[in-house]
Amino acid sequence: MKNSHSYLAAILLRAEWGLSVILHLKGSPSSPGTLNEQAIWLFFKKPYACGRGGCGACTVMVSKRDPTSQEIRHFSVTTCLVPICSLYGAAVTTVEGVGSMKTRLHPVQERIAKSHGTQCGFCTPGMVMSMYTLLRNHPQPSEEQLLEALGGNLCRCTGYRPILASGKTFCLVSRGLRGHPQSKNDGDRRSSLGTQESQLFVKEEFQPLDPTQELIFPPELLRMTENPEKRTLTFHGERVTWISPGTFKDLLELKAKHPEAPLILGNTSLGPAMRSKGCLHPILLSPARISELNVVSKTNDGLTIGAGCSLAQVKDILAERVSELPEEKTQTYRALLKHLKSLASQDLMTKAITLSPYYSDLNPILAVGNATLNLTSEEGTRRIPLSEHFLAGLASADLKPEEILESVYIPHSQKWEFVSAFRQAQCQQNALPDVNAGMRVLFKEGTDIIEDLSITYGGVGAATVSAHKSCQQLLGRQWDELMLDEACRRLLDEVSLPGWAPGGRVEFKRTLVVSFFFKFYLQVLQELKKLIKPRRYPEISDRFLSALEDFPGTVPQGVQRYQSVDSHQPLQDPVGRPVMHLSGLKHATGEAEFCDDIPMVDKELCMALVTSTRAYAKIISIDLSEALEIPGVVDVITAKDIPGTNGTEDDKLLVLCVGQIIFAVVAETDVQAKRAIEKIKITYEELEPIIFTIKDAIKHNSFLCPEKKLEQGNIEEAFEKVDQIVEGEVHVGGQEHFYMETQRVLVIPKTEDKELDIYVSTQDPAHVQKTVSSTLNIPINRITCHVKRVGGGFGGKIGRPAVFGAIAAVGALKTGHPIRLVLDREDDMLITGGRHPLFGKYKVSIKEENTKEKMLFRGRACLTNLPSNTAFRGFGFPQGTLVTESCITAVAAKCGLPPEKVREKNMYRTVDKTIYKQAFNPESLIRCWNECLDASSFHNRRKQVEEFNKKNYWKKRGIAVIPMKFSVGFAATSYHQAAALVHIYTDGSVLVTHGGNELGQGIHTKMLQVASRELKIPMSHLHICETSTAMVPNTIATAASVGADINGKAVQNACQILLKRLEPIIKKNPEGTWEEWIEAAFEQRISLSATGYFRGYKAFMDWEKGEGDPFPYYVYGAACSEVEIDCLTGAHKKIRTDIVMDACCSLNPAIDIGQIEGAFIQGMGLYTTEELKYSPEGVLYSRGPDEYKIPTISDVPEEFNVSLLPSSQTPLTIYSSKGLGESGMFLGSSVFFAITDAVAAARKERDIAEDFTVKSPATPEWVRMACADRFTEMVYICPLPLEPPSHPTPWAIFK
Ligand SMILES: Cc1cc2nc3c(=O)[nH]c(=O)nc-3n(C[C@H](O)[C@H](O)[C@H](O)COP(=O)(O)OP(=O)(O)OC[C@H]3O[C@@H](n4cnc5c(N)ncnc54)[C@H](O)[C@@H]3O)c2cc1C
Ligand code: FES
Ligand code: FES
Repeated sequence: MKNSHSYLAAILLRAEWGLSVILHLKGSPSSPGTLNEQAIWLFFKKPYACGRGGCGACTVMVSKRDPTSQEIRHFSVTTCLVPICSLYGAAVTTVEGVGSMKTRLHPVQERIAKSHGTQCGFCTPGMVMSMYTLLRNHPQPSEEQLLEALGGNLCRCTGYRPILASGKTFCLVSRGLRGHPQSKNDGDRRSSLGTQESQLFVKEEFQPLDPTQELIFPPELLRMTENPEKRTLTFHGERVTWISPGTFKDLLELKAKHPEAPLILGNTSLGPAMRSKGCLHPILLSPARISELNVVSKTNDGLTIGAGCSLAQVKDILAERVSELPEEKTQTYRALLKHLKSLASQDLMTKAITLSPYYSDLNPILAVGNATLNLTSEEGTRRIPLSEHFLAGLASADLKPEEILESVYIPHSQKWEFVSAFRQAQCQQNALPDVNAGMRVLFKEGTDIIEDLSITYGGVGAATVSAHKSCQQLLGRQWDELMLDEACRRLLDEVSLPGWAPGGRVEFKRTLVVSFFFKFYLQVLQELKKLIKPRRYPEISDRFLSALEDFPGTVPQGVQRYQSVDSHQPLQDPVGRPVMHLSGLKHATGEAEFCDDIPMVDKELCMALVTSTRAYAKIISIDLSEALEIPGVVDVITAKDIPGTNGTEDDKLLVLCVGQIIFAVVAETDVQAKRAIEKIKITYEELEPIIFTIKDAIKHNSFLCPEKKLEQGNIEEAFEKVDQIVEGEVHVGGQEHFYMETQRVLVIPKTEDKELDIYVSTQDPAHVQKTVSSTLNIPINRITCHVKRVGGGFGGKIGRPAVFGAIAAVGALKTGHPIRLVLDREDDMLITGGRHPLFGKYKVSIKEENTKEKMLFRGRACLTNLPSNTAFRGFGFPQGTLVTESCITAVAAKCGLPPEKVREKNMYRTVDKTIYKQAFNPESLIRCWNECLDASSFHNRRKQVEEFNKKNYWKKRGIAVIPMKFSVGFAATSYHQAAALVHIYTDGSVLVTHGGNELGQGIHTKMLQVASRELKIPMSHLHICETSTAMVPNTIATAASVGADINGKAVQNACQILLKRLEPIIKKNPEGTWEEWIEAAFEQRISLSATGYFRGYKAFMDWEKGEGDPFPYYVYGAACSEVEIDCLTGAHKKIRTDIVMDACCSLNPAIDIGQIEGAFIQGMGLYTTEELKYSPEGVLYSRGPDEYKIPTISDVPEEFNVSLLPSSQTPLTIYSSKGLGESGMFLGSSVFFAITDAVAAARKERDIAEDFTVKSPATPEWVRMACADRFTEMVYICPLPLEPPSHPTPWAIFK
């Protein structure tokens, strides 16, 4: 290494610059301070969605040559956690390096786009790179490998099914896979619905994968590994120094010199803390080049694994040992393997080290497996057992600061020894566990007498906890029911978890402590049965054995059906065909530009927001002095800088929630702005009352507006002479949008006339424009908002972007500089609010005879001291309808009827009126319902579920079918107008602009399909550039499912105007080409530009009278879901979902099915895993993918079928299509009701009341505690430790 560039020259980036272009960064041992802090991370300009390694959006492939085997290893890594210095000697391939629109597409890119696996496209580069890395390692992977490879990649739009479909085209059909045969009546359905198709893409058209065409490992790097550098490499940053020694001796020396410096390997533990929590380590020691830490040695009695081996390597090593050794010797290895399979993601697996000395999923197993830590320092070596002393953090058993963990020794297990591992997280994959455990028992040879017992738990304290005392007291006991009972009581006593314990879920965790032990008890009992003959104990009934089975990850299967176009439709006409998303290929190659991809503009500054840390308080003072001294800080933007409107003077001093924006800091870089924020001191005077929950708001009469009600008939009469009354409560939790692209805006002030250009990620650019205008007090016509595409919105980018746009615009006006404001995930989740939580109560009278229904609905919006909520897909519908359907379920339970019977009995039958007196025809609803019952073979499967439940005590299945009548549109006529502008240029190319925004929902694709049909030209002649307030003014938000409906009508109108103008020319030259007609029109001075306009549907609601026509039309649908729950852990698996949706004549079935699937999975998240947790002070805890669990790829139902109802028409909309953006969300509740059905079955068997309180989401915690049994009872009986006065409140509040 000779010159200052050589360290980083060793990293080859196959990014925009193509293969073998060397990344030159300044910085060397001799030139400290030349690299800014940001550059220490592998900081590509490509998607950052969480910055914590939790979403996979920033995945790239890293290739390295293994110095020992000389093999090239490829692995996927999330760049947000990769320090650039750690890539010494590695080649980095980004999505741009894989293929591009300009050169050649890679088959992975082509297939994900053509299989409709992209919507907003923000997750797509990461998906492509995870799949690409898999294919580099396994050109024909199994489907399980595919599922595993994508396990750490989140997608908020598609519902994953089409992404998997694209990946499956590369796979060998796995023999071990539990494929689901299609429904028995598939053939019948196909023949009775002869016009339906089930192919959304043509696999045969895909280019083949040719592994010989892949990029080679750069020869420069090959040469480097042949002659590895042994010198210590040092890299200085502004505040951090990275030191990478080349020998073990140097590493030990450095550790002795800098004992406080952490060793950095995968950086998956240190990284998130450094990136988002501001932890700064001035010196980082990288042992990546130390071969001693990668040594693996097999001996006759065990296995020693170097501490530098990645989890993926450990998995391979363990699998090898398991295949080589007899079962009795590999108990610990098997338990470790089991955990490694469910742990986090592939990215993490390939980066992270074996063992974090503090928290790790593997620690409990290593501890019970009697593993030993081999430590080394300059002083010498030391072996310490990973025993309870180590776990308890006793000084004698802990690592000294200068010590390095060199390797871990794991002994073989022996005959009569059994080891197991348990883990329960909020979802199956990519989630840290609530509780994990390792358990080991050794019996006296030939007996069932306990000779040794070890039990350790994770998740119940700051580090792994050993139940040493309980284990000691059980030595010498027989492995029987009496021992089980005593063990559970002792464990609950010893593993103390106070009510205020961090992480909350205390009762659930305590229940898991004993439930896991019960599982272990049964497992061991089964093994003993095989070993000890004749048996002394009674047989375990088969009904109880289901406790032993885990839910294996299964690759989803399914069919999507849609109506084929009329055979007479011209081939050129794309309407009704599954046309690929216009940006699909650009998403897949990384060429699609999002707001923050806009290159830095001249004199640009960054903005960061300062938010309140109090829930309800008055600001007394703000001290900015230290913040303004931070180098690079330019200014602070406060309310005083706003020249236009901004609430009242009093408002400006009040904070109403944690996360309320108080002011903003402007600096040269994002890092400087954030550093300044840490230095700002604000003093508050706390106010009262602080209101967090809906119940608190009711108590304090804290409401936003008067009550609204709808009434039909005399409700008092309804409760006279009734047969039965059913009453209940339903809690529906809120939901975070978790769009992959966080809120972001770039405001560029122009030099003339106070003009501003605003590039913003929004669903409503006109609202941003208007808000900026009033905030700056300049006319709207000086402000232009541009939206190219939005990386997911789901309602969260309707109102909120205007706030960020306005703040950034004030900054731009004050400083005269362009301002970029990009929220990181934590701030986005803290500030922006989400779906409103809902608390519902119902009271129903049941009568035998048929009477006219009488109904009264009352509702109020509460005002609390949590961040205010906003629109979210379905806006209120998914919450309100959950209450209605829960009420129906409760009525059914009371009447002893299946819920579907009660649903059917109370369903609309003929042309009818809603409670607000809007007439409608429910025919399609009934058809969807019947189709769904039929397609899912519901009645047969209901019987099978009952049979299963009779045979299994600890596992229960549930099935539910849910109908839906979804109200589309806004309840205001002015919101249903739209405009479009269509220009035809003299070469015949056409530019279409309309008022809708591309959020991933494919609106631009649909608009070009409309224009193509109207102008009778291929889509290739048409183009959409962006949505701009200068091209189409006064637009309304792209929301409420009507974006394509209303803009489609406007585009149609513009095209029809143009075609009418062209008619004389076409008539004159009917055989002419489009280009000839356009040329002629230009010659004849015919305007080739037209504005189209749609005046919209009438929609109104008179709340005084309680009547109106608020919705232009309804979308009907039905979904049937079946699940299986584990009553002991609360986990569930989704066995099958069938959806039938009335899309009428779909404009684009691929896009519409994508919307239904994506919304369904998002709804499933709302109702099952997505749980917002707030501290007692009102601070949102769940501010990232690690704490807030949106569905992952392994959450897709094992069989997932979607059908668009054929032969359905609606005269109102463009080409008789329907808007499907939101409706699928509620169908996710079918999974929720299937879960509650299973819980009800468990409760019935245990003789507990079936009318339990319904709470959404139905998390594992809720399911476990609802399936009450002897273990939950033990938890309630066994008291919690006393709460100390310092912790009077629980960890989290229930919102
Ligand atoms: C998205 C995500 C998901 C995760 N999921 C899980 C999960 O499911 N289960 C789980 O257990 N963990 C999980 N983690 C946490 C993390 O991956 C593990 O703790 C992992 O073992 C850390 O390894 P690392 O190499 O990345 O550690 P680093 O971040 O590089 O280092 C961690 C610490 O270990 C010390 N250290 C490293 N090597 C040595 C050594 N040889 N001697 C002494 N000290 C050393 C360092 O000084 C540092 O303090 C997750 C993390 C992320 C980001
Ligand atoms: S994993 Fe890197 S941005 Fe989410
Ligand atoms: S397409 Fe996956 S997040 Fe939008």
